[in-house]
Amino acid sequence: MTTPIITKAVSVLRAGGLVAFPTETVYGLGGDASNPIAIQRIFTAKERPSDHPLIVHIANTRMLSHWAADIPDAAEKLAEAFWPGPLTLILKKQPHVIDKITGGQSTIGVRVPRHPMALALLEAFGGGIAAPSANRFTHISPTTAAAVREELGNKVELILEGGACEVGLESTIVDMTSGQPRILRPGMITAHAISEVLNISVLSTDVLTLIRAPGRHHLHYAPETMAELIASEKILSAVTGLTTKQLPAAVMIHSDINLPIIEGIRWIKMAPDAIHYAHDLYHMLRSLDQQAFKCILIEAVPDEEAWHAIRDRLSKATAPK
Ligand code: TXA
Ligand code: MG
Repeated sequence: MTTPIITKAVSVLRAGGLVAFPTETVYGLGGDASNPIAIQRIFTAKERPSDHPLIVHIANTRMLSHWAADIPDAAEKLAEAFWPGPLTLILKKQPHVIDKITGGQSTIGVRVPRHPMALALLEAFGGGIAAPSANRFTHISPTTAAAVREELGNKVELILEGGACEVGLESTIVDMTSGQPRILRPGMITAHAISEVLNISVLSTDVLTLIRAPGRHHLHYAPETMAELIASEKILSAVTGLTTKQLPAAVMIHSDINLPIIEGIRWIKMAPDAIHYAHDLYHMLRSLDQQAFKCILIEAVPDEEAWHAIRDRLSKATAPK
């Protein structure tokens, strides 16, 4: 069923305007993927360098061949297993795809999101919607409509309100253009889950060796407050070692540590499991960033596959500025 707000969003998109919309990962800043003016407006609104390609969102797998060419069987299998859902496939692009979307590369990123509002919008619009995360370049991705408003405010014609994003971290990006799948950006769909579907091993690219890779810019996903990652066993001594200049401090903990009351320290108890932790992470970082903390200490998360995407984002959020 098409609601009035979806009808309005479709007319904004058809006129070349921008619509921020919820997906299950993070909110996207959407424009008509076949309209070069709309695409240029996305880059301008985000203040994003033009060589960073955009993901095209589609309503269903049947539309994939309109955007991608020479689709390998393995990619079809992943689409069947994980779409709609938080997985982006990198494939060879069709010749008509405009250069601004692909950053001039011969490949395109495509996904079918699973948030009901995103699907309703895509179905009613009919075409592809190019959408990066709806934040300004280097900022934390928004996981609520209010966060989109803070990031982009009047740079977008319409912000669809779809509640807090279910997953909370950006999609897993997997490059399917060579014989072996390669993870370009870890997400909550793990390399293991992908290799189980395909029965072949999956490569992970070291973040530092990526060329135009997602989040390669070292300031990606960063809060403005100084943030530091600290091993679990060192967190208590790190906290007691803070100088008065570093207080007040927020300390994000996920393991079951006894938390002493210390003046100037606000303990933030995060969920002990990766799924809930991921759901809350960006919202928490954004909210802490808006308070007057001098620093944010973050307990390092387990070196286990379920936590891989979270480790990746935390290492970026705490990279030296
Ligand atoms: O979960 C998500 O993927 C969210 C929601 C809105 O769908 N979108 C998102 O978009 O995270 P963005 O633009 O913030 O990150 C997409 C990343 C970019 O950093 C870009 O480098 C990479 O995807 N990407 C897009 N097309 C690519 C391509 N052809 N080859 C390699 N990387 C690509
Ligand atoms: Mg982004």
